[in-house]
Amino acid sequence: IFSVAPEVGTYRPVSTDPCPPLFGPAFDADPYPAFDWLRRNAPVSRVPLPGCDAWLVTRYEDAVATLTHPSLAKDPAAGSPEWRAAGLGLPLDHRPSLARHMINADGADHARLRRVVSAAFTPRRIAGLRARALEITDDLLDRLDGPEADLVAGLAYPLPIAIICDLLGVPEEDRAVFHRHASVIDSAAASEVEEIARATDALEAFLDDLVELKRSRPGSDLLTDLVRRSNQGEIDKDELTSTAFLLLVAGHETTVALIGNGLLALLRHPAQARALRDDPALLPDYIDEILRYDGPVRNATWRFPTEPVVIGGQEMLPGEPILVSLPAANRDPAAFADPDTFAPGRIGEPHLAFGRGAHYCIGAALAKVEGEAAIGRVLERFPDLALAVDPAELRWWPSMIMRGLFSLPVRLRA
Ligand code: HEM
Repeated sequence: IFSVAPEVGTYRPVSTDPCPPLFGPAFDADPYPAFDWLRRNAPVSRVPLPGCDAWLVTRYEDAVATLTHPSLAKDPAAGSPEWRAAGLGLPLDHRPSLARHMINADGADHARLRRVVSAAFTPRRIAGLRARALEITDDLLDRLDGPEADLVAGLAYPLPIAIICDLLGVPEEDRAVFHRHASVIDSAAASEVEEIARATDALEAFLDDLVELKRSRPGSDLLTDLVRRSNQGEIDKDELTSTAFLLLVAGHETTVALIGNGLLALLRHPAQARALRDDPALLPDYIDEILRYDGPVRNATWRFPTEPVVIGGQEMLPGEPILVSLPAANRDPAAFADPDTFAPGRIGEPHLAFGRGAHYCIGAALAKVEGEAAIGRVLERFPDLALAVDPAELRWWPSMIMRGLFSLPVRLRA
C-alpha cells in the first residue's frame, strides 16, 4: 500500500535496520514485521500514498487517542485539497449520493444516522440472524462434497452476503443480481476503477428500487425499519440509500476476512483448534483473539484534524489525512503480553479490531454471530481439516483498508 519507506516524524529511529517493505505481496502476506518496526521507530509516521501523504498511527495508546479525539473529523469535506484530489476515499467519490452515511459524518449528524440503525439492530433481530447464520452455514457446507475445498469461496464469501440480503430484505429472486454488483464493488476483487463505478451505479439503482419496494410492501427486515424512520423525517432519501450501501460494504468483506483469517489461524495452531473442538463454549474467546491476532481491518477509515492536534508527540495540521493501523495497535507489546502469540482467552486491554469511540463498529455483534457460526460448524463437521497448500502460497488481498485471503484451500477429510 505504501510505495516508499516512511519519513520519520519527530521520532528518531532506534533501529539501524531499514523498515521492511510497506508495499507488495510480502507485506500483504505478513505485514507484522513492518508494523513492529514502525511501532518501535516511527510510531506516528508520514507515509507517501498515491497522490498525497498521510499520517499512520501504529501504537495502541496513540490509536485509542486518535480514534476518540474530539478534534478529528470523519467528514471527507474536512480532508485537505490534496487528499480530496488524490481520490483515496472509498471508490464512490463519483457518487456523493451514496456517501451520506454515518462513517462520513460527525457530531449531531453522525449521532442521528447511527441512532436510526442501532435502533433497528435489536437483540431479537441479531438472535434471529444467529439461527439463520447456522442454517446458511450448514447448507453451504453440505455442498462441499469433495475431499478438498476453498473455504473462502465455499463459505466465508457467501455467508455474509446472504446475511446482508436477509438484513436488507432482498427478495430471493433478486439476490443473484445483488451479489454480482456487490462482488465487483469489493475493492479486493476488482481492479478496474470504471468497473467499480459501473457496479456502484447499478447498486445504487438496485437499492433505490429496494427502498421503493419496502415502502409499498413493508417486510420485517431492517431496511423496512429504516424506511419507516425516513417516512417520519429522521433521515432523507440519499441518507437512506447511503446507509443501506454502507451496511453492505462495511458488513461484507470484513466478515469474509474474519472467517477466512480465523480458520487459517486455527489451521496453523492445531493445539488451540483441538482445545476448541473439545470445548465449543470457548468459541467467543477464540473469535475475540482471532480479531486481535489477525483482524480484518488493516486501517481504520480516514480522520482529519479540524485544528492542530498532537498525538504521540507529533503535531498534525488541519485537513492532513490520518490512518490508524488497527493490526499494528493490536500487536503492541505495551497493551498485549507476548502479542505475536495466538492465545485465546488472554486477559488484558480490549483489542481495537472494531475500532473505538463514536464510530465503534455497529455490526460487531452480528459479525461475531457469523464468525461463531462459520468457524464453530467447520471445526465440528470436519475433525480432520488441514491446509491443502503451503501457507507461503496463500494469496492476500492487496488492499489498503482490509486484510483477507483470496482463497483458503483445505483438505476436508483425512
Ligand atoms: C464501523 C470493523 C463487521 C457495519 C467499523 C469500524 C471498524 C469496523 C474498525 C470503525 C471504523 C473507523 O472508526 O474508522 C469491522 C469488522 C467486522 C465488521 C472487523 C467483521 C469482523 C460489520 C458488520 C456490519 C458493520 C457485519 C453491518 C452489517 C459497520 C458500520 C460502521 C462500522 C455501519 C460505521 C459506524 C459509525 O461510523 O458510527 N467496523 N466491522 N460492520 N461497521 Fe463494522
